[in-house]
Formats: sequence, structure tokens, C-alpha cells
Amino acid sequence: MPRVRPPGLALTPRCGEAQNRYVLIKAFYVVLLAAVVSCGGADTAPHVPEPFPDHATFVDLNADPNVLEVMLTAEVAEVEYLPGKKTSVWAYRDAGSAGSVARVPGPLLDARLEDRIIVHLQNSLPVATTIHWHGVRLPPSQDGTPVSQIAVPPGGSYTYEFVAMDSGSYWYHPHLEADEQIERGLYGAIIIRDEEELPVHADRYLVLDDVKVEANGALAIAPTGLDVMMGRQGNVLLVNGVAAPRLEVPRGTRERWRIVNTANGRFFNLLLGDIGFSVVAWDGGLLPEPYQASTLLVAPGERYDVIVEIEAPTDSTLTLQSVFYDRGHGMRDTGPDELMQIQVTEAVARPLEPLPAVMRQIELPSTSASTMTRRFVLTEDMESAEPQFFINAKAWPLDPDMTAAVFGDTEIWEVVNDTGMDHPFQLHGMFFHVLERGGAIEPRRGWKDTVVVPQHSNVRFAVTYDAAGMWMYHCHILEHAERGMMGVLHVE
Ligand code: C2O
Repeated sequence: MPRVRPPGLALTPRCGEAQNRYVLIKAFYVVLLAAVVSCGGADTAPHVPEPFPDHATFVDLNADPNVLEVMLTAEVAEVEYLPGKKTSVWAYRDAGSAGSVARVPGPLLDARLEDRIIVHLQNSLPVATTIHWHGVRLPPSQDGTPVSQIAVPPGGSYTYEFVAMDSGSYWYHPHLEADEQIERGLYGAIIIRDEEELPVHADRYLVLDDVKVEANGALAIAPTGLDVMMGRQGNVLLVNGVAAPRLEVPRGTRERWRIVNTANGRFFNLLLGDIGFSVVAWDGGLLPEPYQASTLLVAPGERYDVIVEIEAPTDSTLTLQSVFYDRGHGMRDTGPDELMQIQVTEAVARPLEPLPAVMRQIELPSTSASTMTRRFVLTEDMESAEPQFFINAKAWPLDPDMTAAVFGDTEIWEVVNDTGMDHPFQLHGMFFHVLERGGAIEPRRGWKDTVVVPQHSNVRFAVTYDAAGMWMYHCHILEHAERGMMGVLHVE
């Protein structure tokens, strides 16, 4: 039986559209029901609960338990973002698994700390590509950027190899024409597990994205001026590649959600009714202790791991939404967007050990009044025909901002945002510790690789250059990175 897609017509809901949407969803259920019946399915209930789209995990081809070796093919594929409409995408396929199909997101790379990870990439796309392992510390030659390797041409192959040094939640994607390649569907999740993980009933990855789909199902790839300015905003919101999926959980369930934002430009500001989130990890793994958040802002490129405890009564439904966040340049509040539904079932979850109060020790880079501070000023030019973006008045790729640093030194980066919108700023190759956001001391300790620099404000972070090589830093709004806002750090 074909995989059933959810009734996701998740065109960003606006006030007044709800009625319309309901009719369309209902119509879809009728079609869905017909499909189920004609396939010989026994289920005749009109409200078929949608299975939560969990990730296919890569098949490990290596018998050595300390090596995870996989085959990854990037190719043209078809998915169904809108019910009944085919969308042509570029996607990753687990070529080591017989009969596999390419999917969005790509297969989950599920590794253990200290595993040697070997990925054989076959490029079956019509364009050259690379793979960057966002957040993973690795040798610079394996970083998958234009300064670390020659892109893999169509028909070519390349083997990436590195050792998993830090447990946590990461993701992989091309680092070449990323605004187009990631939008077309090339991204996947990475988990690096520790021997001891937090006691939960389920540990799952929620890969958040939005895609801009025409009525006929085709991706709208050519960017508009607005797409370039804000980063492309899609009209269909996806969780693990599916619009508005439904998750069923027993009452009393405790889950760990590893959340990544793979969208080109959308900021997800998450709200889960009045339950809130217990945030346990950031980009670079566990925090020393959890903290509570009623809403959680996840900017492009960032990861947050949260614990959710579902105490709602049996048969109730909770909705994970993305609510308005003012990211600048006159972005309007168009009302909350639904991401997924959580249906509480009759069963009661088995009791678990309590979560540890202290999860990790983190030794921060030590800084003093004499620590060298570097400034990175982000600016934009909206006046020219094609908007342009800059770091220290320099623009990738012809004349990028270049920074030379000494291996082992600790320095402070002051990223100054001189534009009217937020920019999520990523540094490759090493984690950093945020000291201040907009002049306010950062109260939490945790490792980051991507941080939001708010409009007309600044962020200061401390970083120890513990990896030699050429590393990129850039805005993770992909339209901005590819149009200038990207520089190169050379550590030696
Ligand atoms: Cu997730 Cu430098 O990219």
C-alpha cells in the first residue's frame, strides 16, 4: 500500500481561511478514504490518524561496531507536499539499503560518540554539490565548503570521513548554492549519541522546513526580491518532510525532541499550548542544566533539544505552532501556523526515572579585559537592483571578509548587526560561548555554532581556536550567505 500522506494543505493559514481549509481537508479525507479502500485497506474510519513521519535511518555497511559507513546518493526525486500533486525535488537516498527511495529529509545519520563515520557520496544531480556536516567538529578537509574541497561534479563521487567527537544533534546539507540546493530538499539530520542518554519514552528528531509550492505542485525556485531580502518564506510548513503530521502519545509521555530549522529564511517561534518546553541542549550538545521556555525561537541552522511532558487528558489534542516573532524589515503578524498535532491516547505511559538536575559540566573559554576582540559588522544594500549583503563591507565570493587567527588562542567576536532584520550567524569548525546579546549578559552556559544577531543590535561570543584550517562564517539565511554575507577564518 502506498505511504499515506497527511491532509496537510498547510498553506500558511490566515484569518478567515480556516473554513476553506476545513472543506479542503474534508475533501481530501474522502479521497484518502477511497484510496485506502481501493488498496484493500481494512480501516474505514473517516479520520485516519496520520502516522508520525519518523526518519529512515542509514544502513551501516561496516561490520566494525565502531565504524558507521554509509552510501549516500543525491538525486532528482518526487515527493507529495500538496495532496495529489507531485513535486520534483533534489533529495538524498540511502544507497546502501536495497530498494530505498530518496526522501526529504534525507536518511538519519545515527551515530555513537567516537564512531568513525564514513559517507560515500554519489552525486546524481544535474549540478555540482558538497555536503557540510553542520555543527560537527571534524578535520577542515571534511567540512564540505568551497574553501575546503572542490565540489563534486554531476556523476562524481566523494568520501567524507571523520570521528564523532561531540554527542548532540546536528544536520547535513550542501554548502554550495545552498539557497537553491537546500530549498530543493537536500538536508538530513544527524544524532551523535552518548552512552548515557536522558530517560525518555521517545527520542525523535523534528526537522522543520517550509517550501514554496505552486498550485500545480512545482517548487517556486526563482527567488523574488522579497525572498532575497528576508530569505525565502514557503507556503507549506513541513515537519520531517510532511505537512501537519499527527503524533499519537500515551498520557504521561515524556519525549525528547531534537529540533532543527532547515528553512532558508523562516524563523520558527514554537508554542505548544501552555505546556512549554524544558530546553536541555543547544547546538553543541547538553546544557549544564535544563531551563523552561514557554516559546522557543529556532532560527535557520540552529538546534534545540527539548523535553516535553504530555500530561493532557486522554483524547485531547495539542498543537505545536509557530507564532509571530518580529525578525525585522516590516515582517507582519499573519497569525499562528500549525506545525503538528499531538493526540493523547488512552494508554498511560510507564513511569520513568526523573531527569537529572545536572546534565553536564562545561568549562568555558576564559576571557579577561585583555582578550582580543574582533568586530564583524553585518550590512545590507537594498538600493541596488539585486540586494547585496556584507560582512565588514566585504562580500563573498569575489572579495570575502578574511580573518587570520592563531591556533589555541581565545578571542571574543563582536558581531554587529547594522541592518533592520535579524541574522543567524554561524561559525564553522568550533563551538563558541555566547557572552552577551544586545548588551545583556547571556545567563546560560552552553555551546553554540549558530546564534541570532538581532536587528540593530549585537552579540558577543568567546571562541577558542581549537581547530586549524579554513572555516567559513556566515549568515544562515541562505539567500544572504550566497549574496555576500559569508567570510573565511584561517586558523594556523
Ligand atoms: Cu548549515 Cu555553513 O551551514
